[in-house]
Amino acid sequence: MTEPILKIENLSLRREDRPILNDVNLEIYPAQVHALLGLNGSGKSSLAYTIMGCEGYTPDRGRILFEGKDITHLSITERARLGITLAWQEPARFEGIPVGKYVGLGVNPPDRERVIQALEAVALPAKVYGYRSADKTLSGGERKRVELAAVYAMRPRLAILDEPDSGIDILSLGEIANLIRRMAIEGVAVFLITHRDELVETADVVSLICAGTILFTGKPLEARRYFTSRCIPHLEALGSQPWDTSKPEVQEAFASNGLLKLVAQAAERQTGKEQSA
Ligand SMILES: Nc1ncnc2c1ncn2[C@@H]1O[C@H](COP(=O)(O)OP(=O)(O)OP(=O)(O)O)[C@@H](O)[C@H]1O
Ligand SMILES: [Mg+2]
Repeated sequence: MTEPILKIENLSLRREDRPILNDVNLEIYPAQVHALLGLNGSGKSSLAYTIMGCEGYTPDRGRILFEGKDITHLSITERARLGITLAWQEPARFEGIPVGKYVGLGVNPPDRERVIQALEAVALPAKVYGYRSADKTLSGGERKRVELAAVYAMRPRLAILDEPDSGIDILSLGEIANLIRRMAIEGVAVFLITHRDELVETADVVSLICAGTILFTGKPLEARRYFTSRCIPHLEALGSQPWDTSKPEVQEAFASNGLLKLVAQAAERQTGKEQSA
């Protein structure tokens, strides 16, 4: 059987004395899409930053193995050299660098054709976008696409995609899903953080995270069912299960596989309440 490219063992993380990740165990395989699903604040980005080795995300416990080698204490640059890359939930703006150059930053040796192909894969024609500045004049959705194109052009061994769908309009989700599938077909291990049904369907494996704990790892359909009933810490935090399975609309969503949308909507409502409080 194929060996996992990434193995996370008993990983725990605290930030400012708050537990963020608790005893996380996870295996990610080459040429597979492994989705991570969880409500706002459940620890998805924190796990992504810990795998990438970002500053302030040194685990308190546990190990991260990449191709069997312990990388827990390697720097972000050393991990990048091994072929691990992260597409940020909120991509940075690189004032002054043309989009084409930004997308080609991780392409070594430089390869113009690969940059053009990557831009086309995210439906940004190179003729229109290649020489534009990767700055605040790009829309949120365009920046997300540029970020994805840069990851694709790089041909990493492990691509961590933190909500590549956020800010992407619903009609374009199919293109993003196709690109993610294409990366896996080309041998990349994709760790896909998402709230969207459309992208979960592209996954081979799904893990559910709830309040920093991985509750379940398995097939996408089973993951949906499990999530509705087992995210107890959120039940306690929210006072009630926003996706109460006795409600007719929840049962209907179950039947149409749209439950994740309901979960995402409930989380959005909760975030809205927190912001207006
Ligand atoms: N420096 C910090 N100090 C204290 N708590 C933190 C810190 N950074 C993150 N957190 C908390 O850790 C939890 C997990 O945050 P994280 O960004 O990983 O969530 P997420 O699952 O990616 O959420 P979202 O879906 O909103 O992107 C949140 O409750 C957040 O407030
Ligand atoms: Mg996040």
